[in-house]
Amino acid sequence: MVVRRGLQWIYNKIVAKAQQCILAVLAAGPVPQHIAFVMDGNRRYARSHNKKIQQGHSEGFVALHKILDVCLHMNIHCVSVYAFSIENFKRPREEVDALMALMEEKLLELCSKGDLLDEYGVRLNIIGRVELLPKNVQRAVRKAEKTTRHNNRAILNICVPYTSRDEMTTAVEETVRAGLAFRIDPDTFFTKEEVDRRIMTTARGSPPLDILVRTSGVQRLSDYLLWQCCENTQIQFTPTYWPNFGLFDFIPIILDYQRKIWSRRISG
Ligand code: FPP
Ligand code: MG
Repeated sequence: MVVRRGLQWIYNKIVAKAQQCILAVLAAGPVPQHIAFVMDGNRRYARSHNKKIQQGHSEGFVALHKILDVCLHMNIHCVSVYAFSIENFKRPREEVDALMALMEEKLLELCSKGDLLDEYGVRLNIIGRVELLPKNVQRAVRKAEKTTRHNNRAILNICVPYTSRDEMTTAVEETVRAGLAFRIDPDTFFTKEEVDRRIMTTARGSPPLDILVRTSGVQRLSDYLLWQCCENTQIQFTPTYWPNFGLFDFIPIILDYQRKIWSRRISG
């Protein structure tokens, strides 16, 4: 038993060292500034392992924690994740309640002393209609954002409850209101730049989106970061269910990004 534990310890150390080497090599190339994940496939993962749906979402959070560590280790400045769509409120009550309980618990955990956001100096932004969340989750959101608001080395955007059309509608509405309040000629004021300034991710300091990853083999954007997916965003679909998503799914995505950046530089 002791020998087995010892061998396991050595194996874990070797794997961790190998991962660190791989990340150091990847980080030597062009590193994306902003990467977003549509964390899809939690329920199919749960069903395929005869687990409860809630377990799929919990393991989804573990996968998020691991990949966030990888991104921050590689000096990726901003990570955005789609954690809950406004449409997801239509899911069965039991699932929504379990997801909300998970959010409350994990938001506080993520921001606690010694956890990832503290270790890497990450500011947490909750992007979406926070007022639609249960009061206890809203309290966790306020506390988590307040705890990390002076962190300035990186950004984590957790989109909950979010849809892109809602974000765009709100930004357009705010632009129109600002124009009317200052009685500015709409022809000069109502520009793409003015709307962009009011898009929630931009307003909270996120750089342009370089890569959008959707897991689980579904090839749709599902109302996520549609404004941000501008001409230079690389969209990547991967068949892996989100709870199984890890470093070895991530490496080809980063290599593909680096290959495209290099070929763009060569062709001028
Ligand atoms: C999509 O898979 C996943 C979700 C709707 C929830 C994602 C949430 C987490 C991973 C937890 C995040 C927690 C924090 C604090 C950020 P799905 O349910 O659509 O699965 P399916 O595509 O197989 O049906
Ligand atoms: Mg899904």
